[in-house]
Order: sequence, then structure tokens, then C-alpha cells
Amino acid sequence: MSLAEHVGNPWRAGDGGSPPGCRLVAVGSALPERRLTNSEVETFIDTSDEWISSRTGIHERRIADPEVTLVGIAARAARAAMAAGGWTAADVDTIICSSSSPDETFPSLACRLQAELGCPHGTAFDIQAACSGAIYGLALAQSLIQTGLSHRVLVVAAELFSRLVDWSDRSTAVLFGDGAGALLVGGPGEPGSEIVAIDLGADGTGAASLGTSPAPDTALPEAIPAYARAERSLNRVVFMNGREVFRFSTRILEQLIVRLAGAVGVPLGEITLVVPHQANSRILATAAGRLGIPMERFAVNVDRMGNTSSASVPLALAEAAASGRLVPGAGVCLVAFGAGLTWAGAFLRWGDTPAVVDDPGGELVSDRGRQEAVE
Ligand code: UT7
Repeated sequence: MSLAEHVGNPWRAGDGGSPPGCRLVAVGSALPERRLTNSEVETFIDTSDEWISSRTGIHERRIADPEVTLVGIAARAARAAMAAGGWTAADVDTIICSSSSPDETFPSLACRLQAELGCPHGTAFDIQAACSGAIYGLALAQSLIQTGLSHRVLVVAAELFSRLVDWSDRSTAVLFGDGAGALLVGGPGEPGSEIVAIDLGADGTGAASLGTSPAPDTALPEAIPAYARAERSLNRVVFMNGREVFRFSTRILEQLIVRLAGAVGVPLGEITLVVPHQANSRILATAAGRLGIPMERFAVNVDRMGNTSSASVPLALAEAAASGRLVPGAGVCLVAFGAGLTWAGAFLRWGDTPAVVDDPGGELVSDRGRQEAVE
């Protein structure tokens, strides 16, 4: 079966009696302070800055120190978004978390985050859609609100991928980074950006091309620094058939953008910003070239953050919003793809959606609430 046969029609707000779109009320993100540059990677992995930059566009990534926990970085991103949107813990009635690098089978990251934030009521659960997780979470948040089961949903995608890579495997270790992003989703009456269209899909026949396997039981080489030796709770490492996933990624990225723009009735040239999953800048450049959309209309952070799996879309969106790149009325296309294989897209009509970036190691100072988020 081809991908084209696999996908149904995108959902569109108000289309054929469907309900109005929910609102993206605010965005937040959090990053570890430590930057790991390609030159430093060269000192303990048989690779080169030249290979990594030319094949992937990655120059550096963020790596959490061993004492950082997944729930800790998830909470920082959640607090950043809540400070931006003016929500307190009592406002949140549902928490949906996504992580491709979970540190527990159960309890869920979402339940642990609920306790960490002190949310007094509601429900909390995790979803698994790999790198597409944040957009799957956004879609699910909207559905829960539309059915009346929830009113205000916190979606958090958090990744400590440095604990899922095999640091002795150069083909994957150089690609990934750590970070977290959070989205606040409210009903159609809330302020924020309208969710105008959603497109989700999966093709389980591609499961073998990207996944995890038991960690090797050989000791890591001496040269690998302490921060890359943090404990792995689930003792698994990532594997990937890079070429196969590359082909899938370029094809699905292009299809998703065309389908979403078609559903909304916006010519490709009028998309203000594409916020794609950040796996490889060559994937983005290939899709941009085929679609005839200039690269300046793609949000890119893979050069500075590597592939942060499900956190990458909210991280890139928070950065774009906090730096003032998005103004009311802008057409914003979120698109992601990943293990499963899965893919997901959402088209947003930008409104007043504030963002806070909690990045002690970065230069970007976000527009509002940063002090509250960091304190
Ligand atoms: O987030 C989920 C989605 N993920 C993606 O979309 C990732 C998609 N795939 C990719 O981005 C690319 O396939 C990679 C960046 C992972 C790999 O690039 P590639 O151009 O497909 O390289 P390759 O795997 O075909 O390897 C080419 C060569 C091999 O050497 P030989 O066999 O040609 O002698 C590898 O051993 O590059 C070698 N190689 C490296 N050399 C230096 C692989 N990794 C490295 C490395 N440094 N880190």
C-alpha cells in the first residue's frame, strides 16, 4: 500500500458541520544548559565536524547533566508555557505527555508531572507516536475539549535522548539532543491561535526501520565523558535505517504540507512559516525545494539542537513565537514524522499566542513572563 492510499482526508474546522477549532493559548520550552559541539564529539567518537555538518546540518546539541530528570525538564517547559499563558496549576484539567525517551514504563510521565506541578484535579496520561508526539497530543487535546471531556489541556513533549543513544555507535549518537516543549490548548472561546486543520497518519509496516533494541552489555569506551554516561532506566538504545527513514521523511513532509494547505485553501506561497520536525536540514531543504517554498519560511533549530524527537516541533515553535517571527494572521504549518512510522500535521491561524523559552544557555530572551518561568 502506498502512503497516499494510507492517509484519509485532513480534519478541517467547521467543514461539513465539524466543530470550530480549539486555540493554542501559549507555548513554552526548556533546554539543558550544556552545549555539545561537533568538535567536542570528535574527541570521543570516530567522526568529524565535516561529516556531521554536511550530512545533517547539525553543529551542536544540548545534553542534560546526569542529575537532570525527564519530569524535571518537562516541568520547566510546562511552567514556561503556563507563565506565558497566565495559567495556574488549577487551570489545567488534562495533561498529555509524549516522550520517545521515557525513563519508566509506568507510572506515566504525565502523572508524575501532574504531581510535580501541583495540578489539583483532572486526568493525565502519556501517548506514544515518537517524533510526531507533540502534534498527536495537540490533536487529542482538541478532541477532548470538543467532546466536553476536558477544558484546558497541557501537552508536554520531553526528551532526554542522550540516554537512549548508544554512545559507541557513531551513526546515531551524533544526531540527537535533549529538550522539552509545552503547548497550552483551550476551547474556541479562549485567546490564541486557531487550530484550522489536522492531519494524522501511521504506517506500521515501517516499524522495523526505526526503533529501540537492548543496550549492548559492553562497557563504554573510556573517552566518553561523564555527561554521556547518565543511567538508562529502560536499558534500550535507538537503531535506525537512516537511508530508508530519510526517503520516507522527505516524501511525507512534502505530502503533509500539500494536504494541509489544500484542506485550508491556502496556496503554498502564502504559508507564513513551516515548523517541521527537526531531523536533518537536508530533509528540510529537499522538501522546501520540491514545494518551491523558500527555506527562510522554514523554522530551523536542528543546527543548534540536533534531533530532539517529539520535543522538536514545540521547541522550534516556541523559539519562532518568542523571537517575534509570528504575527496575528500568519498561516503556520506544523509537520512531523517519526518511528511507527507515524506522521502528523496541523495548520494554525496565528493569534495572540505568547511564548516563553527557558534556556539558561541561550541568547534568546522571550517576550513575556520569562522571569516568572525561570524563578
Ligand atoms: O527523527 C526521526 C526521523 N529521522 C530521520 O529522518 C533521519 C533520516 N536519515 C538521515 O538523516 C541520514 O540517513 C543520516 C544522517 C542518519 C545518515 O546519513 P547518510 O548520508 O544516509 O549516511 P549513511 O548512513 O548512508 O552512511 C554513509 C557513510 C557510511 O560509511 P561507508 O559505509 O560509506 O564507508 C557510514 O559508516 O557514513 C558513515 N558514517 C559516519 N561517518 C562519520 C555514519 N555515521 C558517521 C559519522 N561520522 N557519525
